[in-house]
Amino acid sequence: MQIRLVSIPGDGVGPEVVAATLPVIQDAALMHGAGLDVLEVDWGGERHLRTGAPMPDDAAELVRSHDAVLFGAVGRPDVPDHELVWGLIIALRQQLDLAVNLRPVRSWENVPSVVTSAPGTDLLIVRENTEGEYTGVGGRTHRGREAELGIEVAVHSRPAIERAARYAFEQAGRRRGQVALVTKSNAMRHGYTLWDEIVAEVAAEFPAVECQPVLVDAMAAQMIQRPAELDVLLCSNLFGDILADLAAVLAGGMGMAPSANVSPATTPGLFEPIHGSAPDIAGQGIANPTACMLSGAMMFDHVGLPAAGDSIRNAIAVALLDSSNHTPDLGGTGTTDGLAAAVRSALNRER
Ligand code: NAI
Ligand code: MG
Repeated sequence: MQIRLVSIPGDGVGPEVVAATLPVIQDAALMHGAGLDVLEVDWGGERHLRTGAPMPDDAAELVRSHDAVLFGAVGRPDVPDHELVWGLIIALRQQLDLAVNLRPVRSWENVPSVVTSAPGTDLLIVRENTEGEYTGVGGRTHRGREAELGIEVAVHSRPAIERAARYAFEQAGRRRGQVALVTKSNAMRHGYTLWDEIVAEVAAEFPAVECQPVLVDAMAAQMIQRPAELDVLLCSNLFGDILADLAAVLAGGMGMAPSANVSPATTPGLFEPIHGSAPDIAGQGIANPTACMLSGAMMFDHVGLPAAGDSIRNAIAVALLDSSNHTPDLGGTGTTDGLAAAVRSALNRER
């Protein structure tokens, strides 16, 4: 198998964690008899300043001629955030119709979480990725006047709900067979009651999977009180975004949480740590590369080489057992390169 990857290091710690990840995924591919061709592109904040756009017009076309994308992060203090988020990451999700955002979170032996109930956590957030509160539908009016207002319209459509739901139930079928449907249909009685109805229809196709509707506020509490009981969380775009950051804390923080943007069809997936460009620590060589490496592992799961993904996850687990490899976000004094080197050596010992 030859995997053709587009690499978008981006801004801030993005290039640091991507540089640490590429050798790990190269090794893992080789170990499992695959080749990995990497095309690196300069999309991101610096390109935006230089050319007026964070990525070229034909970006989606270029991606479509590859198998997957590894994305670091974008964001820099001298460019408004919404220009990069809408001009690059949300644009790619929409143009490639990357319908589902997967955010697995697990606890790791020897990695502390500020949440004492975190040990034993192994959950997967399946987030609808193209609509909900993030479609940009709405407007602003009466600017600068007392009556100034902004309207942000939530969009929930049957096809988008159905495909996210089907994806969640399929994943649950391969895991512990439980889906929690996260909504707010007591207070938002149009979009989220539609979710309740459609998910009940999809649930009927998966008799082996249990499905429980849970209101988002109750879920926030449950994620802190009893996270180990959770399996798959099916969420709208906004709720999935928020709960994923909360879930990352269970794993030990932003540096530990990977994600995948995938389409149930055959479009290439986009794999990225959930964290941003972390300008507060960029350039110091201390960013935790785990989230990016785990995103690389998810890339292998998605292109049909899950054994390579497992090898990476196992190697990370081994490397993290030694606290001297821990980066400062985990309470250690380790470096990005140090942790990546420890993962590589654990990976190559497995051979
Ligand atoms: P952030 O995720 O960049 O940072 C939040 C906190 O987590 C910071 O204290 C940071 O040091 C820490 N952190 C993040 N990644 C880490 C890592 N790998 N290792 C250790 N610590 C890590 O979020 P923030 O500060 O809200 O945003 C910074 C910039 O990133 C903004 O411009 C924002 O728009 C952008 N951003 C981009 C995203 C993307 O490209 N997908 C996602 C989130 C934010
Ligand atoms: Mg977020």
